[in-house]
Amino acid sequence: MDLPSDDEIRALHERFAPDREAFELVWTHCRIICDIAGQLLTDEDEDLVRAGALLHDIGVYRLAPGEAYIRHGLLGHETLRALDLPEPLARICSHHTGVGISRDDVLRQRLPLPPVDYLADTPEETLVMYADKFHSKTSPPRFNTPSSYAASLARFGPGATARFQALTAQYGLPDLAGPALRYGHAVL
Ligand SMILES: [Fe+2]
Repeated sequence: MDLPSDDEIRALHERFAPDREAFELVWTHCRIICDIAGQLLTDEDEDLVRAGALLHDIGVYRLAPGEAYIRHGLLGHETLRALDLPEPLARICSHHTGVGISRDDVLRQRLPLPPVDYLADTPEETLVMYADKFHSKTSPPRFNTPSSYAASLARFGPGATARFQALTAQYGLPDLAGPALRYGHAVL
């Protein structure tokens, strides 16, 4: 698979970010998720996880003012597809949101997405999706402990919490203290 290098990925962030602030926020978050996913790697394709983690939020830049944030995964997938990047890489963008969005979730919650499954499917999609739960692009950005992330899922019902718990059992927990120190973001 012909995956872009880290430098090429950084250049894509610079190209699509509307301003420096958005670039810093999203690129830093993506590097952190890459770090966390790297800690949890087992037999996934390491290069695909790395490129996927670094690109998973590339669609955030394309959100129109007022457009639902949940659409950023789909926009990222479209962006990478338009660049002729490999489909397994592009799919990581549209399959990393929350703990997985099913077609049923889209219909029941009337989410502004085409009604198909966006559940993480491949080992690489699943690992990036899981790693992504431990850091948020809030203002200021923060690391999420497993319990704070689990609490934030409560509004999506017991199914979502159970899915997250199954992921923690499968992958274990990443070290957040190291990255928190390196990036200067709190662990909350
Ligand atoms: Fe993310």
